[in-house]
Parts: sequence; C-alpha cells; structure tokens
Amino acid sequence: MVGLIGAMAVEVENLLGQMTDKQETKIGMDVFTKGTLFGQEAVLAVCGPGKVNAALCAQNMITAFHPAWVLNLGVAGAGDETVSIGDMVIASCAVQHDMDTSPLGDPVGYVSKVGLVEFPCDEALRKNLLSAARQVPDMQVQEGVIATGDQFICDGETRKRIHDRFHAKAVEMEGAAVAHACYMNGVPCGVLRSISDQANGQSTMDYPTFTKLAASHSERVVELLLTHLETAK
Ligand code: ADE
Repeated sequence: MVGLIGAMAVEVENLLGQMTDKQETKIGMDVFTKGTLFGQEAVLAVCGPGKVNAALCAQNMITAFHPAWVLNLGVAGAGDETVSIGDMVIASCAVQHDMDTSPLGDPVGYVSKVGLVEFPCDEALRKNLLSAARQVPDMQVQEGVIATGDQFICDGETRKRIHDRFHAKAVEMEGAAVAHACYMNGVPCGVLRSISDQANGQSTMDYPTFTKLAASHSERVVELLLTHLETAK
C-alpha cells in the first residue's frame, strides 16, 4: 500500500476519480480513501493547508494504514527564476523555512528533538518520480530543496530570502511537515510539486489561474509512477 497526500481537493481529484474499489475511513477530521490506483493498493487524503494539518494527516495515515511510503503531491510557488509555471520540482529534501530558533544559536530551519534542518526524501522514490516526470512531454523537471512554511509567499523579497538561505527550488506549505512525520515514523517519503505561480507580486493572480493545470501535471506524474511501479507492500 502506498500513501498519497494533497493539501487541497484540486490537487488529487483526478487521482480520486481514477481510484476503484474505494473505501472511506474517517479519523478525526481527515478522510482517507483506500482503493486500487493504476494497479497499486493506495490510500489517499486531502490534508488541508499548512504544516499542522499535513503532519497530523500523515501521522494518522501512517498509524492506520502502514503505507510503504508517503508522497505529498500538488502545487507550489517557484523557488527561483529558473523554475516556471507548469514545471515540476521533485524534492531532494524538504525544509521548514519558518522554523526559527536562531536567537538560541540554532541554524534557521533547525527542528529540535529530530535534530535536522533538511528532512530527507527517499532515494528510490525520488529516482522513480524523476523517470516518471521525464516521460511527460513539454514539462521541465528539476530536483532540489522544497521549502515549507505556514505562509503563502507572494513577494519577491521573501522568496529570495528563502532561496538564499535554503537554495529552495519551490515554496509551499505542507511538504516538510509530511516529511517530518514520515521521518519520525521511519517511513520513506517523497514530495512532488508542480509550479502554479512565481511566489512574487503576481502570485495572487497566477495561483487561481494556473493551479488546476499545475495540479494535473503532478497527478499525471503519479499516474506514470504507479503504473510502472512494482507492487508496494
Ligand atoms: N502553493 C502554491 N503557491 C504557493 C506560494 N506562492 N506560497 C506557498 N505555497 C504555495
């Protein structure tokens, strides 16, 4: 069984539509849909925006369904000028750009207890995501850091600050929280994001315009990933 988490319905609605033998389970305010997706046993959830929603949903999914891995998919703002609307970013790792205990001497992004700034993404899953993404015609694909925070980034200065600090290729609001929950449970994780906006002054217009298109790109990559995957336990 594999786990898939999107923040909003629009980020997983095509996948949900393709799933067969569906069975819903409600845990707290999270609804998990289990079924068959492109030949794989899968569980899918819409976690809602932000790190706490995402971490709780990932933890509930892991506890209840024991997925072989969890993938957070959806849309993101661009992390720098080399990334454009419609492009795909596969996380090499995910960071929490708004975690800041630097006045106490820690690096910005450092998560105490876990002892990490960079939450790892599974090597094998990354490789499979990369080869799936490369099968989609006319879509640029990059691997890099994905930066997560409880903030919609819509000014170039904030984006630059996040990029300068973490070399982020994409900014969003859930990936590192899912990766954090996965890390704490020893579950492999991936983050896949298609760019809906440039995380600048245009974003409040670009985001509603391009989110559906961008979301369908990451869903297409998941389709190719699952179609070519050996059955996950
Ligand atoms: N998701 C999509 N675009 C985003 C942005 N600009 N900031 C944070 N999350 C996003």
